[in-house]
Amino acid sequence: MEENKEEKKRMLSGIQPSGDLHLGNYLGAIKNWADRVNDYECYYFMADLHTITVRQEPAELRRRSLIQLAQYIACGLDPEQNVLFLQSHVPAHAQLSWVLNCYTMFGELSRMTQFKDKSSKYKDNINAGLFTYPVLMAADILLYQPDYVPVGEDQKQHVEITRDIAQRFNSIYGEVFKIPEPFISKAGARIYSLSSPGDKMSKSDPNGCVFIMDEPDVIMKKFKRAVTDSDTEHPVRYDKENKPGVANLMNIYSTLTGKSYDEIEKEFDGKGYGVFKPAVAETVSDALKPIREEAERLSADKAYLDGVYKDGAERAAYIANKTLRKVYKKVGFYQG
Ligand code: TRP
Repeated sequence: MEENKEEKKRMLSGIQPSGDLHLGNYLGAIKNWADRVNDYECYYFMADLHTITVRQEPAELRRRSLIQLAQYIACGLDPEQNVLFLQSHVPAHAQLSWVLNCYTMFGELSRMTQFKDKSSKYKDNINAGLFTYPVLMAADILLYQPDYVPVGEDQKQHVEITRDIAQRFNSIYGEVFKIPEPFISKAGARIYSLSSPGDKMSKSDPNGCVFIMDEPDVIMKKFKRAVTDSDTEHPVRYDKENKPGVANLMNIYSTLTGKSYDEIEKEFDGKGYGVFKPAVAETVSDALKPIREEAERLSADKAYLDGVYKDGAERAAYIANKTLRKVYKKVGFYQG
């Protein structure tokens, strides 16, 4: 009997090359990406075109675009099984973006929350790219006809507008674009800042943030300074409401060791934060060490990383150009 092999669903996501991945990125998302290839055909790209909507230092942007690729591969994203590429290497993104600009309304772009936030934050540089950012993102997505777009909560509105633009285009020209769904992953831990456990871990708060490239002594220092509480009676106890700092450390420890909160409470029964914090720090150090070392090794191998980007761009362009040709034809661009 012939095997009826179902086609895998396609998934695509963009990541701004802002460098410096941290423990929150790793435990919250990246760690789970490696396994996605079992169920999905995965495309990931570094959204360098998007980054220049805010002024960038060119040398830094170049450096980060490479180091971030090294870090993702070191975290387990296999460049053979996943298509990894740099947005600016595939011209179809900018090309489709122009076309879609003409099918996106000024009014709907004015209502985007990210535009409102960023234009009030960068008052001296409210450029047109900041305004049309969602159109480029729609082009990024629609070129690949993906079923799912994994994004964080803050980017959901951009996937919504992508769907609106695609539907508008399809209603004029027929079924050109697949209508993608946002994919909000349930897997992954939500990690908070070590210095202010009410906030998400973020690189803008370097004291409360453990970077995946941090050396063990730096990691130890950050954990020793982690905010906890003055509970001496029963310190290592999971109570998110009243002991958010401890809950965060327990969550980190639990995610890395697979131990339950009960088991952790027993393990540290009668022990204080002076024992618990260094134990968490060491577990984190041990987990990050192979990733850091591999990322360092890969970063030094520019030829390899260039090769990954080149191969990724070819594989991506093959799919993207198919969609672009169809769009050009539909809107009436003469193709000879
Ligand atoms: N805007 C996204 C962010 O800042 C990055 C991004 C660009 C993206 N293009 C995309 C995400 C396409 C998903 C799909 O996080």
